Amino acid sequence: MTDIWGLAAAEVRSDTHYLRGSGTFPYLLALHKAEGESVRSVTFVCSRERLREIARSVSEHELPARPVISDDPGGGDGLIVQLSEGEIFRFLSDTSEVAPIEGRDLPVKLTHIVFNAVDAEGSGTLAETALGFKVSDRTKGMVFVRCNASHHSTAFARAGISSLNHIAFEMNDLDAVMRGIGRLRDHGLAPAWGPGRHGPGDNAFAYFIAPFGPVVEFSTAVEIVPSDYKTGSPEDWTWPEGRIDQWGMSDKDVAGLRLAEERFRFVRAWEQVLLA
Ligand SMILES: [Fe+2]
Repeated sequence: MTDIWGLAAAEVRSDTHYLRGSGTFPYLLALHKAEGESVRSVTFVCSRERLREIARSVSEHELPARPVISDDPGGGDGLIVQLSEGEIFRFLSDTSEVAPIEGRDLPVKLTHIVFNAVDAEGSGTLAETALGFKVSDRTKGMVFVRCNASHHSTAFARAGISSLNHIAFEMNDLDAVMRGIGRLRDHGLAPAWGPGRHGPGDNAFAYFIAPFGPVVEFSTAVEIVPSDYKTGSPEDWTWPEGRIDQWGMSDKDVAGLRLAEERFRFVRAWEQVLLA
């Protein structure tokens, strides 16, 4: 993930390796040594006011939640919440930033984390009602959800299982996505899907299966939407026969991606989260 993919080593704290991008977040990905594979949590940085709103709403919806003080790089404090299919979301305020890294072709930040869901519609609705997120679009396969002006920061795939679908890293521009593909090709890694350009979100993409198992994406220029963006329905997002993105220039390794998407579940019981 550092030498080839393009992240930079940030810190190692006991059994956790923190990797960063070129932007101001102290880390983007934390890899924790454990017995099995699972997603520990997904962190959102927000204002104190937004945190208070989320805390109030989460309590009204009786979701499992507890206050948290982060001991990860950047610190901060806030709330850790478990969603209906076991996803652990962490909301932090007052985190610190780091100086950007100039001159290297690194991913800048995370742009979205997508989950597989048994009930994607229910998860999207819960994100709206309990977290104050907004559904941007619904397609045959996904419910896209935003928490700011970016078209989606998360999405729930209608997958029949609860797991991590993929992690997407924001690149500076389309050339940076293409150079990323080239860098991986230099090391014998071909995209599992891409390059291409999605319908909802209008972002260019390339998906790979990471050496540690999950699907990771180089992405750029996710659409910025107005607050009154009209939520699209599956009928609004159809493709011509044989096409599943705007460009239609690459094959998709459907079986390989599906296997990778099934590996990372939410195996931490809430009791473990409370003890952590
Ligand atoms: Fe994506």
